[in-house]
Amino acid sequence: MSIASPPNIERVLFTEEQIDRRIREVAAEISRDYQGRVVKLIGVLKGSVFFLTTLARYVDAPLKVDFLGISSFSNKSGAPGVVRIAKDLDESIEGEDVLLIEDIVDTGLTLRYLLQTLSGRAPNSLSVCTFLDRNSRRLVQVPINYRCFEIPDRFVVGFGLDYNQLYRNLGYVAVMKPQT
Ligand code: PRP
Repeated sequence: MSIASPPNIERVLFTEEQIDRRIREVAAEISRDYQGRVVKLIGVLKGSVFFLTTLARYVDAPLKVDFLGISSFSNKSGAPGVVRIAKDLDESIEGEDVLLIEDIVDTGLTLRYLLQTLSGRAPNSLSVCTFLDRNSRRLVQVPINYRCFEIPDRFVVGFGLDYNQLYRNLGYVAVMKPQT
C-alpha cells in the first residue's frame, strides 16, 4: 500500500498482475473478433480512461479512440438513471465498428442510454466492453460483449474507479470498508 491508497480498504479484490493478465486475454479476444477491421474505442469519461489505455495497448488491430462524457441524475420522483451527454464525441461514428468501453456496469441505465443514442448514429457495429460488471445491481438488461471481471455488490475503488474523485490511480481494485 502506498500513500495513494485509501485508509479504509477492506481487501484487495484484483491485484495489478491479475488485472493485467485478464486485460491481455480480453484484448486477444477483441483482436481476433475485429480482424481485418478498424476498431473505434469509445471511452466513457472519466473512469474508463485507465482501462481503455491499457486495453488499447494490447489490442492487435488498427484502432481509433474517442471519448464522451455523461452526467446522470435522479428524476423528479427520485428514481436514478436520467442520463445525458455532457461532452459529445469529436467525430462521427457512421459506418464505424464501435466498441464502447466502460469501467463498470451497475444498473445498466447509463449503458442503455448510450447504446440507444449511439446506435442512432449509424455505426457499422456497436459492441460493449466493460472492465467490471456488478450484475447484482442491474435494473435493465443490457448486452455486454466483453467483460474482465464480475464483482460482488460492494463499493470498489482503483483502476479508474473513484471515491469522491480519489483513488482512480490505484493499480489494483479494492473493496472499501462499509461507511459507518
Ligand atoms: C460509472 C460508469 C458508468 C456508470 C454505470 O460512471 O462509468 O458510466 O457509472 O452505472 P449504471 O450502470 O448504474 O448506469 P460514474 O457516474 O461513476 O462516473 P465516472 O466514470 O466519472 O466516475
